[in-house]
Amino acid sequence: MSVHIKRFATPAEAAEACGAEIFRLLNAARAARGSATLAISGGSTPRIMFEWMAKQTFDWNAIDLFWVDERCVPADDAQSNYRMTRESLLDHAPLAPIQIHRVKTELIPDEAAEAYIDDISRVFHLKPGELPVFDVLQRGMGPDRHTASLFPSEPLIENRTGIAAAVWVEKMKQHRVTLLPGVLERARRTLCLVTGPDKADGLRDVLFAPRDPLHIPSQISSAEMEWFVDAAAAAHLN
Ligand code: 6PG
Repeated sequence: MSVHIKRFATPAEAAEACGAEIFRLLNAARAARGSATLAISGGSTPRIMFEWMAKQTFDWNAIDLFWVDERCVPADDAQSNYRMTRESLLDHAPLAPIQIHRVKTELIPDEAAEAYIDDISRVFHLKPGELPVFDVLQRGMGPDRHTASLFPSEPLIENRTGIAAAVWVEKMKQHRVTLLPGVLERARRTLCLVTGPDKADGLRDVLFAPRDPLHIPSQISSAEMEWFVDAAAAAHLN
C-alpha cells in the first residue's frame, strides 16, 4: 500500500489540487480502458472542490459518476449529497443523466441500497459475488474518523463481500446508504480530501495509530491512497 500526504496552506488549495488529480486520473483511466468511473463523497468539504471542477474545461464523456454514500433524505433536501453535488457541479458540467448514478433516496433505505447495487452491477458488468473496481474514489473523513457512512463500531465495517448497504447512524438519527469496505479497498486510486482544525486529531490517528478500522474507519484503505489536507488538518502530523 502506498500513502501520499499532500499538504496545502488552505482548504481551497487542497480542494483544487484534489479536483485536478481527479481529472488527471479520469483522463488516464479513460485513455487506458475507454471509459472511467468516479465515486465522490458528500458532506461539506468537497463543495469548493466541485465548484472549482465546474469552472474547468473537462471532457466528461464516458465517465460514470457515483457517490460513496448518501443520506436517506429527499434529493432536494439540504442534507442530500446529491443536491450538494448538483448545485456545485452537475448543474454546470456537461454530464448526461445516464452518467449520473445517484442513490434513489425516494425508496426506503434497504430498497435504495438494492437499487444502487443493481445500478453499480449493471455499469460494471459484474458477475454474482463480484465487486466493482472504481477508477477513482474520493473520500472524506469526519472528526470521529468515519468515512463514507461507515462510523466507528459499525458492524458493516467487517463486511468484505458486499457492494453497498443501508445503515442506521444513531448519532445522526438518520438512515444512509454507503459503499462497503470491500469496494473501498479495491479502488484503483483513493483521494481523501480532509481540511479544517476539527480533523487534526482524527487524521493523526488514521495515519499513525495502530491499525483498527472498526474504531478508525478512515483507515480502510486501497492500494494507492492520496491525502489532500490543509495546514489545519495536518497540524498534528509532525
Ligand atoms: C457524508 C460523507 C461523509 C463525509 C464526512 C466529512 O455523507 O457525510 O460522505 O463521509 O465525507 O462526514 O464530512 P464534512 O466534509 O462535512 O466534514
